[in-house]
This record gives sequence, structure tokens and C-alpha cells, in this order.
Amino acid sequence: MAQPPVFQSRDAADPAFWDERFSREHTPWDAAGVPAAFRQFCEAQPAPLSTLIPGCGNAYEAGWLADRGWPVTAIDFAPSAVASAKTLLGPHAGVVELADFFRFSPPRPVQWIYERAFLCAMPRRLWPDYAAQVAKLLPPGGLLAGFFAVVEGREAAPKGPPFETTQPELDGLLSPAFERISDMPIAEADSIPVFAGRERWQVWRRRAD
Ligand SMILES: C[S@@+](CC[C@H](N)C(=O)[O-])C[C@H]1O[C@@H](n2cnc3c(N)ncnc32)[C@H](O)[C@@H]1O
Repeated sequence: MAQPPVFQSRDAADPAFWDERFSREHTPWDAAGVPAAFRQFCEAQPAPLSTLIPGCGNAYEAGWLADRGWPVTAIDFAPSAVASAKTLLGPHAGVVELADFFRFSPPRPVQWIYERAFLCAMPRRLWPDYAAQVAKLLPPGGLLAGFFAVVEGREAAPKGPPFETTQPELDGLLSPAFERISDMPIAEADSIPVFAGRERWQVWRRRAD
């Protein structure tokens, strides 16, 4: 039987953790394309939204948005992720930047922060900082929308990544600054194996301060 790969870095808050995995092409979270729920959400918008994709990895979605003329910036703090995304995006490579989400100042006001496999990539000790940063970057009415790794009918596993959550835990984290305005399960057939059965598409709208 094949042995699982052995990595030096064990702390998912450290860029080296992700850098090592991208460098060795061990990316089991990678959807290798643009998810259907993402496309449906974009196609339902009356006009392009100024979009930020934090922890973008290979940033397929950023390329898809840039192709359609949407203003988009995708950031990742792992140099090998950024290099891989820039290669994949070709003519749109310029939308991808090396940056730490917690220190990032966007080049233009943001209307939508897209979430996929970013919150669940972070150890729980960083979740309050995540909630504060998404609230800081979005104006009232701005959207935090995407995939959340929410489990139902059991406790969230303490270990990760992915660090899964429960709806009450996520509500406790985001509700002070956001109102959840949409929530849809993702069919297992539309998920990749690491997220199957624990993915929801949710839209959270920034409250007025
Ligand atoms: C599980 S991967 C998901 C990548 C991508 N969102 C996807 O759906 O394929 C998590 C990504 O978040 C990045 N990341 C984690 N913490 C970050 C931070 N503080 N700032 C920027 N990127 C971060 C990692 O380098 C990694 O590429």
C-alpha cells in the first residue's frame, strides 16, 4: 500500500505548511476547476462584483471571473500556490498576489469575498481574526459567500485541516457582523471527496455597523 507523504510543517497557520504541499503537488482540496455553485451565484448577479478571493490556491475561479471582465483580486500567502495559480491563469496572472489575508489592503473596495476551503484551512484559534478581517474588508451590504465546511448531526472534528464547523458555531462567529441570507446544501456528487457531505453554499451579508 502507498505510504502517505511525510511533511515537515504541521501548523496550518504557517505559510510553509501550504508551500510544502503545493511544491510537492499534494493538494487533495483542489477542485481542479470552477465549481457549479460558484458559477450559478455569479450568473445570478445583476452586475459584476468587485471580488476578493483569499487563500486562492490555484485560483481557477479568479481566471473565470477575469475572463468575464469582473474586477477580481486573488491572494495566497504560500509562494508555490501563487506561482502555480499564475501559470494556470496565463494572461490573467496579474490578478493573483502573494499576500497574507490578515495584513492585506485591497487595491479597490470589495463587494464580495469568496470563501472556499479558506476558513476551514485555518486552525480555530485564528477564526475570530478571520471574522474580524472579513467584516473590516466589506462595507455594509457587502457579501461573504461561498462554500463552508459545515457538519450536521455530529460534533465538528477537532483536528484538521480541514477544520470543519457546525452551524451554531459558524453563526456565533459571523452573526455579530453578518446576516446569513442564503444556505444550500451541496450534493455529494458535486463535491470532491475531502468535502463530500459537509459542504454548504452560504451567503452572508455585512450588517451596517
Ligand atoms: C485548503 S487551501 C484552499 C485553496 C483554494 N481556496 C481552493 O479552494 O482550492 C487553503 C489556502 O489558503 C492559503 N492560506 C492560508 N492562510 C492564509 C492567509 N493567512 N493568507 C493568505 N492565504 C492563506 C494557503 O496557502 C492555501 O493555499
